Amino acid sequence: MTSGGDSPGMNAAIRSVVRTCAYYSVESVGIYRGYQGMIEGDFVTLTARSVKGIINKGGTILKSARSKEFMTEEGRKKAYENLIENNIDAVVVIGGDGSFTGGVVFNQEYNFPIIGIPGTIDNDIYGTSHTLGYDTALNTCVEAIDKIRDTASSHNRLFFVEVMGRDAGFIALNAGVGAGAEEILIPEENLGLERMLESLKKSRRAGKSSSIVVVAEGDRTGENVFELAKYVEENLPLYEVRVSVLGHMQRGGSPSCFDRVLASRLGVKAVELLLDDKTNLMVGLKGSDIIATDLEKAIKGVHSINTELLRVSDIMTT
Ligand code: F6P
Repeated sequence: MTSGGDSPGMNAAIRSVVRTCAYYSVESVGIYRGYQGMIEGDFVTLTARSVKGIINKGGTILKSARSKEFMTEEGRKKAYENLIENNIDAVVVIGGDGSFTGGVVFNQEYNFPIIGIPGTIDNDIYGTSHTLGYDTALNTCVEAIDKIRDTASSHNRLFFVEVMGRDAGFIALNAGVGAGAEEILIPEENLGLERMLESLKKSRRAGKSSSIVVVAEGDRTGENVFELAKYVEENLPLYEVRVSVLGHMQRGGSPSCFDRVLASRLGVKAVELLLDDKTNLMVGLKGSDIIATDLEKAIKGVHSINTELLRVSDIMTT
């Protein structure tokens, strides 16, 4: 099943899990709308052929949801009964930390085997360098920021571009460096309003007539990106300021080759772990290897941003 916010690569992961099951002569069942579908018994039998033509599709054919009912004991009981009734022996959850938290609680209560595949554009999961959809989202953001720069430089404007990342700055930092942003604001490193103003003034003195500031959704340098823009406009009247919030377009679209390959590898590993009687794990990428991390550790651990990239970003804004 897929759960939480959708991300590009989820379909490729579904395809991989189903085809790996078929390869090992294991039956597979898709659960619609994540934990909510589990509670409602919304299941579909999947075969190697029923997942054809989806590796290149964004979103998720199984649909997704954030289920409030699964947070209740009663909801989880219904879910368990449905799994047993349908002869389901294990569940592969493709999602983010909220989905894995649900999986851990469910396992503690019912001892039901769960394997997690990290799927979120935010990349904020411990135990993997990349989550499914992150790479695609980065490419989407860079393409959008390149376009915004055309207007920024034609009109000598300062643009604040908000990218997704509720609690994490991975998208902002990497897309910011990739798109050559003059400043990057992320929740992991609070630059502060005054330092940001100083940095923009410095860019101006260095001869830059336009600027792009990439702001992570979760950044709190200002109250929000609009307040931030207002503050800068009031304090730096030289700049004509605009705001662009990229929003959900970052979550859609055909997955990049990187995400498709990663999804295929993670799906195979997820099924093979279960066949090996290994459970309560999350599969992830470390260097060029697919590894398994304790699901609980994946939730509790912190995936830290690359501080080297922060330094690179600083040097690039010279
Ligand atoms: O977790 C992924 C994410 O895209 C976050 O970056 C963002 O804050 C959130 O989902 C938005 O969720 P929703 O689709 O419910 O508005």
